[in-house]
Formats: sequence, structure tokens, C-alpha cells
Amino acid sequence: MKIVNNEKYIAWNDSFNTGYKRIDEQHEKFLGMLNKLYEIDDDKDLNDIKVREKFNSVLRDTIDYMVYHFKTEEDIMKAINYKNLAKHSSKHRDFSNKILGEVKTYTANNYIDIVGLITYLRNWLLNHILIEDKAFVYEIKSILKKTDN
Ligand SMILES: [Fe+2]
Repeated sequence: MKIVNNEKYIAWNDSFNTGYKRIDEQHEKFLGMLNKLYEIDDDKDLNDIKVREKFNSVLRDTIDYMVYHFKTEEDIMKAINYKNLAKHSSKHRDFSNKILGEVKTYTANNYIDIVGLITYLRNWLLNHILIEDKAFVYEIKSILKKTDN
């Protein structure tokens, strides 16, 4: 299943849960921050300097949170010697480089479709959760099961 959704708000639902509480909580918070960005954009005019400042500050927090979240996952993967660590981490890295580059262009006051970028980020995140993150949590759980026996 591949999520290609141009709707703005997507509420968290159980199908996004990987079953690893800390990761699920972070994903949910991350999605909430993206929804907040849509909300600011919908309510007000981003051309207004005050609105834009508010939007930019939430955007900065969201990007920081993304970096922090990827690090959380990578630390867990390292701790269990996850076989796809390199592959999974490089997906995080390529993606964050791309997003950071776009946001830099935006904050330097160049025109980009920032709301379109949020949607791209959101769709990437949900697809990544459903495929790569679920796979790695599945691996953690099977390792835990083995050590239980
Ligand atoms: Fe991930």
C-alpha cells in the first residue's frame, strides 16, 4: 500500500502503529506538527509577516523533531544490531538532506511551494512508517522473543 494523499489533515489512526510505544508516540507527535502547519496556512495568509513568522517557527521545530526522531530510531537499530541499519539510515539521511535543502531555500526567502513540501514530507513519513519502520520493529520483537526462550 502506498499513500498518495493530497488531503491536508490526516488524523493518527491505529494502522500507523508499529507496536513500539516510544516510536509510535514520536510518529504521532510528528504528524500532529505537520497538521499544525496546515492549520496555520489554512487559517491565515502566509504573506502576512506575523503569520509567516509563526509558521516558520513551527516549521523549524518540526524539522528539528524529524532529525531527533530519526536519531532515536537509529540508536535503537544500533542497539539491536539491525541488519538493515545502513539501508534504513541512508533513507533517513537522503530524505532529511532533501527536506533541509528545500527548507533552506524557503527560509532564504526564495519561493517554494512550502505547503506542497509539507504534504510530500507527510506522505513520505506515512509510507516509511508502514514499510520500513514496521519491518524494523518486527525484527526487534522477534529478537526479544528469541531471548525470552
Ligand atoms: Fe525510519
